[in-house]
Amino acid sequence: MTTVAERSGVAFRFNPFDSAFIADPYPTFRLMRENDPVYKYQTLADDEWILTRHADIRSVLTDRRFGIDNLGARVAQKIPFMPEDAPSLGRLSATLGSWLFFVNPPDHSRLRHVVSRDFTATAITRVRPVAEQFVDGVFASLERDGRFDLMAEIARPLPAVVTAAVLGLQTDRVHDLVSCSEQLFSIFEQPISFNGYRSMASAAETFSSFFEEEFARRAGQPPKNDLLGKLLLGCGKDLTHAELISFSAMLFSVGQETTENYIGNAVLALLQNPAQLERLTADRTRVPAAALELARYDSAVQFITRVPLEDVIISGRKLGRGDRVYLALGAANRDPAAFRSPDTLDIARRETSNLPFGSGIHFCLGSALARLMVEVVLERLIEHPDVEIDLAGVVRRRTIVLRGVRQLPLQLRRQTDHGALA
Ligand code: HEM
Repeated sequence: MTTVAERSGVAFRFNPFDSAFIADPYPTFRLMRENDPVYKYQTLADDEWILTRHADIRSVLTDRRFGIDNLGARVAQKIPFMPEDAPSLGRLSATLGSWLFFVNPPDHSRLRHVVSRDFTATAITRVRPVAEQFVDGVFASLERDGRFDLMAEIARPLPAVVTAAVLGLQTDRVHDLVSCSEQLFSIFEQPISFNGYRSMASAAETFSSFFEEEFARRAGQPPKNDLLGKLLLGCGKDLTHAELISFSAMLFSVGQETTENYIGNAVLALLQNPAQLERLTADRTRVPAAALELARYDSAVQFITRVPLEDVIISGRKLGRGDRVYLALGAANRDPAAFRSPDTLDIARRETSNLPFGSGIHFCLGSALARLMVEVVLERLIEHPDVEIDLAGVVRRRTIVLRGVRQLPLQLRRQTDHGALA
């Protein structure tokens, strides 16, 4: 098989740190998908591959010859090589130990079963009023002040407020956990510097102390009818104490930055596509479908990783046992073989084979919850046709696995004396 460079006639070398790629990865994904869909990624590390076709990615996600990339275990392997003053990677490894992403069956099925019913679309509707109340409050302040940063005021705090309600924590106790979530989630962004490990280890300490204290406090009181209460009741039966702490940290942290980016990307894309915004405003029953299409159009999670458990041939190329395989979900979601006019945002799109939340046994546990939050934000946005975006003030993040913006300033258009929008 020829390489992307040979086929396209240009010297192509994938560089995820390139500013143009970070600003807009989709032209690069198209080049790779069309010319070299099983791309050999030249790095200093082991053999690595990047898959960009929807069909290949979808099939890998349900192929038992591929296993998960156990980042928690990889942290543990580094412990003997760290200097004496290094932060405690043992605690970091333990905190990540039961994250579903890094667990294989049968433990995966056992642990996921503990919470799977708590995250269905029906189960999580009970927190919709929490999200609505929060977003209403922010839009009310917009009416007063005329301008706000969507990321700071809604996209970042909303997942924390809602996740706290799902777990049964008071909102004012979780502020510290939000920045710790971001630090912990950087485990998915490779390579990780020594300082990166240091901040992840400190975030892991914060998380485990927080939940140790929370459960110690609850142990002396009548059981609470919330998700943490349920997990505590199951401790010793469904899950061990170490799993309880790791699992709670996962449930809080993984939905923070992911949903923050999902909200930001969705609002940015919609405001940049006024015809679709108008269509949505005209028919708000389309909001759930729009939330899903927006997740496809600009995926908050661009890459996930798998490891072949044996040699596997894909599109004529041999992926060796133990190689690392990056599945470019962002590329799959823009594949014309799966979606008609994939680069067009279409809130009435019929194809539903989106992969923003993965597929197979590791399909995102929180997808319904994340969509609920985006739906609430979209509903409020269309109630405010006078909101516009200050594009010059948009600041993009430099992360690779997660795609999103740090700053998304919105403002109210001024009204003329006649009441028309200026
Ligand atoms: C409240 C919000 C969220 C929660 C609680 C959550 C939770 C989780 C959990 C626990 C998993 C692992 C499932 C397993 O291995 O069985 C997972 C997987 C995943 N999540 Fe989410 N998530 C949330 C939001 C999001 C968002 C907004 C996105 C992107 C738009 C996303 C994308 C993914 C993907 C792609 C996977 C699959 C990972 C893989 O297969 O390697 N998640 N999520």
